Amino acid sequence: MDKEERRKEEERRREEERREKGERRKKGDKRDKEQRRKESQRRTKISRRNKEKNTEKNSLINEIEILKRNFEDTTKKLIKDIVRQDKIMLRSDQRQRKDYDELQLKLEEIKLLSKEIEDTQVEVIFTMGAIGESRSKETGFHVKRVAEYSKLFALYYGLPLKEAEMLKQASPMHDIGKVAIPDMILNKPGRFTDEERVIMDTHAQIGYDMLRHSNRILLKTASTVAYEHHEKYNGKGYPQGLKGEEIHIYGRITALADVFDALGSDRVYKKAWEDERIFKLFREERGEHFDPKLIDIFFENLDEFLTIRSTFKDMLD
Ligand SMILES: [Fe+2]
Ligand SMILES: [Fe+2]
Repeated sequence: MDKEERRKEEERRREEERREKGERRKKGDKRDKEQRRKESQRRTKISRRNKEKNTEKNSLINEIEILKRNFEDTTKKLIKDIVRQDKIMLRSDQRQRKDYDELQLKLEEIKLLSKEIEDTQVEVIFTMGAIGESRSKETGFHVKRVAEYSKLFALYYGLPLKEAEMLKQASPMHDIGKVAIPDMILNKPGRFTDEERVIMDTHAQIGYDMLRHSNRILLKTASTVAYEHHEKYNGKGYPQGLKGEEIHIYGRITALADVFDALGSDRVYKKAWEDERIFKLFREERGEHFDPKLIDIFFENLDEFLTIRSTFKDMLD
């Protein structure tokens, strides 16, 4: 083979190599193109998915925002309502408070008035009693002491405090009937004739008649006291000649309280009895003139009765 042939041969080989290379490159290009296409498809898919996802996300965000706005609106409305409700409540509270305060004030006034009426009633009764007594030269202190003794007897006898208090207020009325007794008999210095005694004794019935028509418990009590304070436990008293516990406890109590005070206090027309003389009489009259239970109470609590006597001493002493 000559030089020329070798050169041609070499030339063919190179051409062949180039062609193969070109083919290989062509193939490669095709593969690359395919890959790129797939890649691009994949990217498009991803981007579409992302877009979709974004759209989804956005619509969620929108929804949340709407919800949030709704929530805020509702909350605002609620707060406004609560504030308005509070204001209404406050106004209503204030109005109720004012009504309540006004009612309380009125109630206080009524209580005061009622207390005043009660006090006036007690005072009127006490004064009436004192008038009855003063006409027979007794003093205001006499009815005061009789009232206190009566309450003490009532309590030790076992009457409830309320009743004892009632008797205390009513007992000053025991001689109210004396307002109807003529002065010349009432103020006679010496002993009464039988006729005068009969007239004098009517004061119990008169007192009762004066008070018995009242429906007031205090005046009813006073009428019992006026009627029965001269009854005797042995049945020898007046005006009805009642015996033992037929005589109302108010009558039995006032009888003893009245006599104890009348005997134990100085009067313009007579000196007070010595205590021993009074005690002797009481022991003798236990179960006769006086309820034995009350005489026992008197001696058992003598100190207290004497304390009352010294506390409400007459001005004359
Ligand atoms: Fe009397
Ligand atoms: Fe009296």
